[in-house]
Amino acid sequence: MIVQRFDHEDALAAALASRLVDAIVRNPRLVLGLPTGRTPLPLYRALRALTARALVDWSGVRTFNLDEFAGLGGDDPGSYRAFMQDALFDHIPLDPANIEMLDGRAPDLAAECLRYEAAIAAAGGIDIQILGIGANGHIGFNEPAGELHAHTHVATLQRATLEANAMLFGGDPDRVPKCAMSMGMGTILSARQIVMIALGEEKSDCVAGMVNDLISTRLPASFLQVHPHATVMLDHAAASKLI
Ligand code: F6R
Repeated sequence: MIVQRFDHEDALAAALASRLVDAIVRNPRLVLGLPTGRTPLPLYRALRALTARALVDWSGVRTFNLDEFAGLGGDDPGSYRAFMQDALFDHIPLDPANIEMLDGRAPDLAAECLRYEAAIAAAGGIDIQILGIGANGHIGFNEPAGELHAHTHVATLQRATLEANAMLFGGDPDRVPKCAMSMGMGTILSARQIVMIALGEEKSDCVAGMVNDLISTRLPASFLQVHPHATVMLDHAAASKLI
């Protein structure tokens, strides 16, 4: 795992945005895995700014988002689809046919999860997967547990995750859907490169556990230790408890 520290989230975002733009130049058909949440917002702002300066050719790029709430369609303002439209997709010339997200309104969620795995495989796999980390160590919606799922699956969200997502639902954790669909650990770890971003003191404990502790299903992000090409990009607060 390569750990990089930055003085400010904007410096981190600029470095990652330029890494992604270089990757797109080298491979115009790049397949990107994307997260929602507060953490990637500076990155999405940086990508929008580079796009406005005509420095990114998005025409061949494909994206797959990590997860989506069960029961919410893309037109629901609480959905991750709506979040992504607002944060990134409405502002860059990505071909809508190249944007893949799990459909929270699919009539058969298990079948939707299988469809998603097949779509990732048909795209040739994910080249660069961007991740955030939950304060409880989750990645995607792979929550700490005795056992973890390998593939895209329906997940039950823990209280801490409902609280962390309350901002999308008027600040009320009880309005956050209790279930979601998420890429599994194997889906995530199959990406050719992984870049994890973590910002702020509230992530410092799980970041230290992810980097310094033994691998454990109780801290799903710790599995990044076995990935051959994983980078962890941190601000100083998130890095403050690393040994
Ligand atoms: C979001 C996702 C989650 C978040 C994590 C951190 O698509 O998969 O694992 O990355 O909950 O969220 P923020 O960035 O809001 O702290």
